Amino acid sequence: MTVKEIFDSMDYGPAPESVAEALAWLIDQGDRFGHFIDGAFTDPGDGFESRNPATGEVLATLTQATQADVDEAVAAARKAQPKWARLGGHGRARHLYALARMIQKHARLFAVLESMDNGKPVRESRDIDVPLVHRHFYHHAGLAQLMDSELPGMVPHGVCGQVIPWNFPLLMLSWKVAPALAAGNTVVLKPAEYTSLTALLFADICQRAGLPKGVVNIVTGDGAVGEMIVGHDGIDKVAFTGSTEVGRAIRRVTAGQAKPLTLELGGKSAYIVFDDADLDSAVEGLVDAIWFNGGQVCCAGSRLIVQEGIADEFHARLRARMDKLRIGDPLDKSIDVGAIVDPVQRDRIAQMVAGCRAGTVHQVNAQLPAQGCFYPPTLITGLEPSDPLMQEEIFGPVLVSTTFRTPAEAVELANDTRYGLAASVWSENLNLALDVAPKLVAGVIWVNATNLFDAAAPFGGMRESGFGREGGWEGLRAYLAPDRKTKPLARIEPFAGNGADPEGIDRTAKLYVGGKQARPDGGYTRAVYGKNRAVLGEVPIANRKDIRNAVEAATGAAGWARTTGHARAQILYYIAENLSARADEFAHRIDAMIGGRKGADEVEASIRRLFTYAAWADKFDGRVKGVPLRGVAMAMRAPVGVIGALCPDEAPLLGLISVMGPAMAMGNRCVLVASEPYPLAATDLYQVLDTSDVPGGVVNILTGSHEELAPTLAQHAGIDAVWSFSSTPLSTRIEADSAASLKRTWVNDARARDWMGPAGEGAEFLEAATEIKTIWVPYGE
Ligand code: NAI
Repeated sequence: MTVKEIFDSMDYGPAPESVAEALAWLIDQGDRFGHFIDGAFTDPGDGFESRNPATGEVLATLTQATQADVDEAVAAARKAQPKWARLGGHGRARHLYALARMIQKHARLFAVLESMDNGKPVRESRDIDVPLVHRHFYHHAGLAQLMDSELPGMVPHGVCGQVIPWNFPLLMLSWKVAPALAAGNTVVLKPAEYTSLTALLFADICQRAGLPKGVVNIVTGDGAVGEMIVGHDGIDKVAFTGSTEVGRAIRRVTAGQAKPLTLELGGKSAYIVFDDADLDSAVEGLVDAIWFNGGQVCCAGSRLIVQEGIADEFHARLRARMDKLRIGDPLDKSIDVGAIVDPVQRDRIAQMVAGCRAGTVHQVNAQLPAQGCFYPPTLITGLEPSDPLMQEEIFGPVLVSTTFRTPAEAVELANDTRYGLAASVWSENLNLALDVAPKLVAGVIWVNATNLFDAAAPFGGMRESGFGREGGWEGLRAYLAPDRKTKPLARIEPFAGNGADPEGIDRTAKLYVGGKQARPDGGYTRAVYGKNRAVLGEVPIANRKDIRNAVEAATGAAGWARTTGHARAQILYYIAENLSARADEFAHRIDAMIGGRKGADEVEASIRRLFTYAAWADKFDGRVKGVPLRGVAMAMRAPVGVIGALCPDEAPLLGLISVMGPAMAMGNRCVLVASEPYPLAATDLYQVLDTSDVPGGVVNILTGSHEELAPTLAQHAGIDAVWSFSSTPLSTRIEADSAASLKRTWVNDARARDWMGPAGEGAEFLEAATEIKTIWVPYGE
């Protein structure tokens, strides 16, 4: 092309990135890779080819891990872990810093290899993925350095099993490996089968940077290998990023295995444009929202929700901008949209779009490369919120669009999804944007921006987008547990009676639902006997219908989440005051139920605990993150919603208060199933709640069989989190049953907790009662 021709067309000339170094590295490795176990590459075994999706050419042959390989990797990680933890925060910080420096030094090699393997434009891998990767290692070197002083009493889990997807292969590796290592864990990681090369280059870097052997182990292969890792007996913690379907399968496989789990899954994130937005910026934002990485982004702004009055104008500007996108060779530095990772994914996208019977489809008319795996940027306008493509994750460069009239309608449409990963809000009126942001059910919200990421800013979803956060102190916590010895919790059976007829009892307790005493749906009650076998009273046997009523009442009390921490504190103090006035009565009741004379201590501890949570109600704050971008990220704490809990059996009053206190303090509503063997202190508490200004529905208390009620709690779509401190071993059941709706669970794995001591309260409870919502706002220059 001559200079004159270039001036005539104003077209881009070719700007190819050299692949020589990446090819040299592959050749140096022999083009065939084994796994990276215990600090060395194993001999290549039977496996599969890794291809460049833009050309179809084979880049390398990878090994499909066997069970023996996974066992070996887990054993290496196990062996290395105690020594790695003993290095201390500073020792680990030095290693993480060394890794950060090495990645930075080889940044171009990583970027080119990533683009060859995944098909993403090298402009993205060079300017976004890889810089975020070394930033992640630097940031976590810092967290490791500070954690001994900032997080005292926390210890690593041990060996982490980590499975990652193909859309940001190296970046997802860094999100998994850096916090795990910083916290003192060792890892066994499996990259996605389409994109394992940068993970193997990272393994090479670990070797060269002198990382102790066994600290990082990388095994390659498909989903079967992922399954071997997450279900492995030697794995203490599981972290996964990928599809919601596989996330759900992992929840089921790991149910009852006492493995903390974080899941970062799919999304269908809303991109809301108000009529007062800077439309050109919002159009440009969409390029980053849905055409960044070909839309193969879990938090892609894939659902455009645009205000009716500007919709035509906005779509017209968008189509004009789309038609200018350059699609082609990912290794050309001026390409906007590269290849789709694999023909399987491309065909999936094409099928979904072909199946769309509604709306108007616009696809860019640029010439796609003759070979390779490409799909044109696509806009589908005029869809209804219920159309399948408005609900299903396409995971490709396809934007769907609908319109709204009022801010309230925008919020309703945005939240009309089973996912809850991210959302963008565009308006020049920050009052409006900041009014809308808290109403969106999403873990990450960008105001007048989109797809911003930083190592300090927690990232993760709500609803079926998964649970747990990655990034910052909040993400680090997922790799740590309180340093506590536990012992098995034996099942506590109710005392049997002496044969006396309970009929003579004048007072039968009821359930407490919606602020009122309610008869059980089934109409059955059971007698409660004391240690001396005398009958103490009768309690209802709640069934699934009663749970449903309680959830309905809790749902109706949603206003509690909007009260101030100060108001919630006052009510908690008031409960404590009223409990204190009846302390003797409660103490006698506890003594009569359990036997012994510890009742007074338990009541005193309960009052103290209510004070603790009244104190926390307006103090468990989020953090503002000074991210290296034009803005700040506010990691706010939001209530989880409705918490269903099986209260501790062994401490009939204190156990219930220990669950109710943090839940209420943080703005949640709760459905509490009282201690099964000793339920009467809970039923006595109704009157205390009634006289303490607790709004109806905020606390609902049921009595009955934990075993029977647990599945209903775990399966109920109106419950956002299930906690179990029951002495009946229900962890497996609850975790498996929660998989369908991917609700948050916190179970005791039949381990005992000392409710009187520090293990009975504090940050662990407050964290379980909150979700982090990261809101990015423009701020400063
Ligand atoms: P996937 O969820 O199957 O793969 C992600 C990772 O999980 C890979 O490393 C895979 O080998 C592994 N894996 C697969 N089955 C497993 C199992 N049973 N146990 C443990 N690990 C397992 O994603 P896939 O099939 O590659 O993509 C399908 C769809 O998933 C995409 O079209 C997209 O909608 C979604 N997806 C979402 C991602 C996200 O970041 N949220 C990332 C990748 C895919």
